[in-house]
Parts: sequence; structure tokens; C-alpha cells
Amino acid sequence: MSRMIIVSNRLPVKVSKDEVGSMLFTPSEGGLATGLGSIYKNADNLWLGWPGLFTEDAAEQEAITSSLFQENMKPVFLTEEEITLYYEGFSNETLWPTFHYFNQYALYKKSYWKSYEIVNQKFCDALIEVVQPGDTIWIHDYQLMLLPQLLRKKVENVSIGFFLHIPFPSYEVFRLLPWRKQLLDGVLGADLIGFHTYDDMRHFLSAASRICFVSNVHGEINTHNRTVVVDSFPISIDYEKYAGIAASNEAKSREIKHKQNLTDQKVMLSIDRLDYSKGIPARLQIFDLFLEKYPDWVGKVTLMMVVVPSRDNVEKYKDLKEEVDLLVGRINGKYGSTQWTPIQYFYRSFPIEDLSAYYRMADVALVTPMRDGMNLVCKEYVASKLDQKGVLILSEMAGASKELSEALVVNPNDKHQVRDAIYEALTMAEEEQMEHMAIMQDTIKKYDIHHWVKMFMDRLAEVQNKKVEMETKMVDKLHKKEWIDRFKNSSGAIIFLDYDGTLVPFSKNPQDAKPDDELHTLLKGLALLEHVKVVVISGRDRHTLEKWLGHHAIDFVAEHGVWSKFQNEEWKMSTPLNGDWKEHIAPVLEEYVDRTPKSTVEEKDFSLAWHYRKVDTGLGESRAREIISHLKFLAVNMNLQVLEGNKVIEIKSREVSKGKAVSRIMKDFWGDFSIAIGDDETDEDMFRAMPENAYTIKVGELSSDANYRLKNPKQVRQLLQDLIQGS
Ligand code: UDP
Ligand code: G6P
Repeated sequence: MSRMIIVSNRLPVKVSKDEVGSMLFTPSEGGLATGLGSIYKNADNLWLGWPGLFTEDAAEQEAITSSLFQENMKPVFLTEEEITLYYEGFSNETLWPTFHYFNQYALYKKSYWKSYEIVNQKFCDALIEVVQPGDTIWIHDYQLMLLPQLLRKKVENVSIGFFLHIPFPSYEVFRLLPWRKQLLDGVLGADLIGFHTYDDMRHFLSAASRICFVSNVHGEINTHNRTVVVDSFPISIDYEKYAGIAASNEAKSREIKHKQNLTDQKVMLSIDRLDYSKGIPARLQIFDLFLEKYPDWVGKVTLMMVVVPSRDNVEKYKDLKEEVDLLVGRINGKYGSTQWTPIQYFYRSFPIEDLSAYYRMADVALVTPMRDGMNLVCKEYVASKLDQKGVLILSEMAGASKELSEALVVNPNDKHQVRDAIYEALTMAEEEQMEHMAIMQDTIKKYDIHHWVKMFMDRLAEVQNKKVEMETKMVDKLHKKEWIDRFKNSSGAIIFLDYDGTLVPFSKNPQDAKPDDELHTLLKGLALLEHVKVVVISGRDRHTLEKWLGHHAIDFVAEHGVWSKFQNEEWKMSTPLNGDWKEHIAPVLEEYVDRTPKSTVEEKDFSLAWHYRKVDTGLGESRAREIISHLKFLAVNMNLQVLEGNKVIEIKSREVSKGKAVSRIMKDFWGDFSIAIGDDETDEDMFRAMPENAYTIKVGELSSDANYRLKNPKQVRQLLQDLIQGS
């Protein structure tokens, strides 16, 4: 397997100094560090990131570098200014609030952005020092969104994955960022882009299509002649590790210790980093509401609240700390007694054995973020519940709610709903608790962190293989040399050429895609070769082909095979067809034109096309899906087929296709050299109909049955030019 380099802003280990100045190495907080913890330690894999402390002392940097190197880590040191502007600033005061739908907290400062650019470049430079051809580089999270593209420009022959661990917001929120395009372009440098949920993925695709004008087919984007795959991969935890620690004597004895001063209280647990996205103040208010509405529970339930210090130099986090302190004090003052403290509040982090003890002893876990990419705490709770007794209350705004639907799923903004869910959880029968917990455990056990890494890595390898296969199919100098020889010496040659997307690039208005002088010269050149038959085979109507290209001594197939015209002959229908069906289908399409501004219907002799090239992005695609489903049954009954092209839906008789047209022509062809070039789905029929020894060439990167590839119409024209010149 190739070497993997993980890159994230923070290393999984945080370096700090104690009072006497000795170095301390402690595990970093947060889902990312705990999630990927064990993977980088394998073989000669590497994790590159910021060690979490500021030092300009060269000797100290050296010492840190060599200690970390022993553990497969490479530090990227940041200056004090970079920590302020890039980390606290752009990452946590611009991106974090925006991506978590707290855009009213977002600061748009040019100095932050400049530093973000500089630090992403710094990471790129550090990577270049270690990267080798064939490496797989896995870049993580919002702090490094520019890195995939920076790296792509510098190194070839590496596979780049990017994973976003926080939500990707709806286009309407994302577009607020002044640097939205640069951020998307940065991420699009990756081969594979992963998100936690389908919603994050669809928000990203929508933003990419509206801001960068790149469309996708089933999550595959073609940009700058590269394929970028976008998919969702929900991260998880090391299930066996958490279940194992929960079963250990250490966790059990810590549980006994922690329980000592709780007598027979029920325990409700909440664990988060101090972050406004986690909804901590709202949770405290809900606990207050709960005690108010259900006074019987006063003195009988304790809220254990672990809040892990985080980003404490960022203003909003400082404010939040004060708010939480105040609320905890107020509630404890309002309900507490000498025997009972309603909220046991810990503002610190704990070792995993203590966390495990807390998970074990918690009757209820209250996980109610306002927004969370995934949330691992709830998964850790489920994995630690060895006796399956316990209830999870989970916010529907956490990515995890998509998988853990057996939890009591709540809207954290609906305080009364959450208040009543607490009551339901505390009074739930053990049998029901166990039933739900068992299902959730099965899910997390199956889809654990190893599964997540495997899914992402397998997909990245698949994308890489496709890239390699694509490259080997690319028509290169050697192919051309062989083809030119064969072409020149052939007894007879035939060349099938699709028009739009093959001979000319797509244009917004189909009528603008007229042939230019260069194309006329090429077709003229081919037509002059005596042993060569050229067939332009297109979905266009015969009148347009006639008007644009009719003066060339070549053959034509129009309307995907309905009409054909051979040199010095008239247009002929390929098979007897009847267009009566059009009067039933045209009104349906017209109805969609009325409902969809800027869409048009094109009527051809034996087909109808609904074009949406100029329609608002997203609306056109959505209407196209509607049309397809609307026509599904009608089409079968009328022996029609509904084809999806590039921003067009075409309806035509099942009796015609480019494939059938090609077969008819090839029946009478006696030569020994044949080529077919095309770019869209309808050309696949043509490729399949060609003889085995034919050269079939797909233009573009979409999957295809063709055995060769060219990138764009410019390369198609070059190939034709080379064939003419070589003859
Ligand atoms: N965590 C920790 N120390 C603590 C409390 C929590 O390391 O004292 C870990 C917790 O076990 C979990 C992670 O921090 O693995 C939090 O991840 P989550 O996805 O829930 O939230 P994030 O912090 O990534 O937003
Ligand atoms: C979340 C983010 C991570 C980040 C972690 C801790 O999990 O997705 O990228 O590392 O929080 O935040 P910090 O700012 O301390 O790195």
C-alpha cells in the first residue's frame, strides 16, 4: 500500500511546557484527533500539523521536531501572528461561525484572509519537503481548504483526499463569505472530497455549481480536465477501544469513586468543548425548565457537565465561558441544597478512563448541539454502555442523528421538547432502553472508525485507478503515429464525428455553436482524401446540419439517426417513422416551459427536446427530473425513449439511435480503418456499434465504453489535422 500522509491544522498530540519549562506531550482534544489517532502510527505513515505551542527558539523547535518524528509526526510551527490571524482569526472567527450557521458572529477581515493564505502555503511547503511520488495525502478540515489546490499545482503523481469535519452550510450562507470562490477552488484541487452527511455534500455541490460553475453527475465533477469525486463518509469511533476501556477495572473503579457523593441520584451527562455551536447555555436553561416543570425530580437527578476549554483567546468563546459560569451558578443557587448540587460542572479535560467512567454511570446522555459536523461524544457513550442501560438524547442538528435514529432525537431550539425528552428518558423502561441501545451499538460497531478510513481510502484508490486508466487511454503521440500509418495505408477509412462537444465546444445558446473557419478547413481537408468517408453524426436537426455543413463533400446523420444524407443524395429517413406522438408530448413540455423561465422546446422532425442551458442552476436540473418522471409511463406506451443530454432532455422513438445508424452504414463499408469520436451519452450507442478493431474515442472524462480518450474539441481537431497531414 502507498504511504499515507495525514495533514491537519493540529497534530494529534499537543506540545506544551510545564512550570519549569519541560516539554509536555498530551493528546489533543476534539473529534479529529481522537478519530484518526491510531492510523498514522502504522508503518512509515506521517501526520503533519501544528504542535499547538508557540516557540521561535530554534533549538526548542529542533527538539520538538525530533521527538515528534519518533512518533511519525512532523510539526509545522506557526508564529504568534499566524496563530492570531490564521487560527483564531480566519479559521475560528470567520469559517467556524459561518459553517455552523452562526454567520452573525463571522468576522470578514482581510488580514485574517491573507494569513490564511500564507499558512496554507506554509503547510504546502512543509509537505513538499517530505512528499514522494505515489503518496496518498489526506488533508483535514476547514483550516486547510486552500491546501489541496496549492499542492496539486506543485506535485504530480500523488493522490489527494480532503475531508471536512464540520458541516458544510447551505449555499445561501456560504455565499456570504467574501472569499467563497477561492475556498471552493482550493478544495477542488483534491481527487476526493468527503463530508459527514449527504446534506453537507449536497450543499457543497450546490455551492460549487453556483459559484464555480462546475456541475456534477452523481457527485462527479469535471473541472480543468480532472475528475473530482464528492461523497459522504460519516466518521465514527474506535468501538472496540471504547467498549474495552468501559470493561476495564480502571474505568469501573473510577466509576465507584465518582459515584460516591451522588448517592442514588440519576446521572445525566453532557461533554463538549466550550463552543457556542454546542448549545451549552440552552441546555442549562432546559435543565432549569425541567426542574421547574417536574419538581418531583428536584434532588433526584444530577447534571454532570464536562466543558473542555477551547480557543480561549477568541472573543466569542470568552463571552460564552462567562455565560455558562453564570447560568450554572444561578441554577445551582436556585435549586441546590446542602445535600444536592443540581449541576456538577467541570471546566477541564479528563483522561479517557474518567470519561469512560462518566459514560458508564450516566443514565442519560444529553447531546444537544445547535450544529455539529458529527459529534463523537454520543457514539462514545453508546459504545461504553456495556449493559445497554441508558438513554441518548440527541440533537437533530448533529450529523450523528442521521445514523442514531433510535435515540430520542430533538430540535435543540425547541426547549420544551427537550425538557420533556429528559423526562421521557429518566422514566423510560429498562427494556426499551436496551432495545434502542442494542440497535445503536450494532450500527456503531459495524460502521466504526476503521470502516470510515477504509471507505475513504478505497474510494480514493478507486478514483486514482480511474485516473490512471483514463491516462492510459489518452491518445498520445505513439497512438497517433500508429494510426496515421494505418490511416495512410488503408484501403478505405471511415470517420464518425459527433458535432456538439466533439467538433465544437458547448455554448450557452445552441445556435451559437456554429462551425468556425478552422473546422471548415479541417472538414474540407478530410473530404479531399479520396479513400476517406466522413460522417457527421449528430442529435441536431437536419436543417441546421445542412445549413452549417451541407456544402462539404461528407455524409450526415441527423436527429440521432432519424435522417441520413449521403454525398450527392437527398436526406432520407432511416426507418419509416411516425411523429404523431409529438402532439401528445409537446403540450407537456410547453407546460414545463411556462413554469421554468428561460427553458425552451425544440421541435425536430421526429423528436422533441426540452433545453435548460440558460435556466437558473438547480431549478433546471430539478425540472428535468420532474419531466423524466412525468414521461416515464407515457413514453413506454408510445414506444419512445427519454434521453438525458448536456442540459437537455430529448424524447424520440425507440426505433432510432446513433448505434443503429452506425450499424447500417458499417454494413456497406468495405474499408479497413474506422474511427468514432463523441462526447455524450448518445454516442455510447455509436461506440458499441463499431467493429472490434475500430478506434472509439470519448471526449471528456465521463465513464465510457470507448477505448481511447481525448480531453476536448481542441484535441479532436488536432487529431484530425494530424491524420490529414500524415496522409
Ligand atoms: N474529549 C477529550 N477529553 C475530554 C472530553 C472529551 O478528549 O476531556 C474528546 C471526546 O472523547 C471526543 C472529542 O473530545 O472524542 C470530542 O469530539 P466531538 O466530535 O464530540 O466534538 P468536537 O470537539 O470535535 O467538536
Ligand atoms: C473540531 C474541528 C477540529 C479541531 C477540533 C478542536 O473537531 O473539526 O478541526 O481540531 O474541533 O479544536 P481546536 O481549535 O482546539 O483545534
